[in-house]
Amino acid sequence: MTDTTQKPKGFLARHAILERSPTLLFLCSFGVVTIGGIVEIAPLFYLENTIEKVEGVRPYSPLELAGRDIYIREGCYVCHSQMIRPMRDEVERYGHYSLAAESMYDHPFQWGSKRTGPDVARVGGKYSDAWHLDHLSAPRSVVPESIMPGYAYLTESFVNAEYVADLVATHRFVGVPYTDEMIAVAAADVRTQVDPDSDDYDALLARYPGAQIRNFDGAPGVSEMDALIAYLQVLGTMVDFSTFTPDASR
Ligand code: HEC
Repeated sequence: MTDTTQKPKGFLARHAILERSPTLLFLCSFGVVTIGGIVEIAPLFYLENTIEKVEGVRPYSPLELAGRDIYIREGCYVCHSQMIRPMRDEVERYGHYSLAAESMYDHPFQWGSKRTGPDVARVGGKYSDAWHLDHLSAPRSVVPESIMPGYAYLTESFVNAEYVADLVATHRFVGVPYTDEMIAVAAADVRTQVDPDSDDYDALLARYPGAQIRNFDGAPGVSEMDALIAYLQVLGTMVDFSTFTPDASR
């Protein structure tokens, strides 16, 4: 007959020491998890590139960046996501799935985690500026069943262009490649982007290719509404998906 009460021998006997002492078990588990964590996380800090660059993705123009700040301030991300998952229903509804590179200049990213309203990652160009103005001012005036709150006051508060220059500088601090020149003329660029008659039109386009330059809310001055609509209209428009081919080697 085999003796089932037999004590473990050799290596297993030493393991029993660990199992009997909670403190020792905790310390050893902690050590194992720490080593595992370092092995997984540390290389990410030394990799040249964790995001594949994609043609067309550029840093936000100062006005778009100001609009993005208003999007965050007003909590739009609480109801809207900005990440289209690579699944058929999402791609059919919203368009090409989101690429990591499309949010590489987003600090913090606005992927969101809740869709009370639809995903807005590719809302740029879907509606006219006038539609956005009506919708943001009084959502039910254009979508009767909407439960979205109104933000009419954004037409009455104005963007402080000097503050936007600081915002651009802050984004450079966290890694967005804005140049000294971009920061120096950021305040002027804010005003230029809502003024299609400006002499600086071409210079702004050279700095921010594809930027849309027009009076977004149709009223004088740079309102927060202008900035927010400029931001919404650029979302998802930087990459040209008619020519984009994913890197097949990955
Ligand atoms: C309480 C939740 C909620 C909040 C907060 C919210 N929205 Fe919405 N949003 C919705 C819902 C629901 C819809 C769909 C109905 C409609 O079009 O109004 C919507 C629709 C939209 C659409 C149209 C999307 C499309 O593809 O048709 C845009 C653009 C939009 N919201 C922008 C914003 C912005 C910008 C903010 C912040 C200033 C914001 N929303 C805040 C709920 C919200």
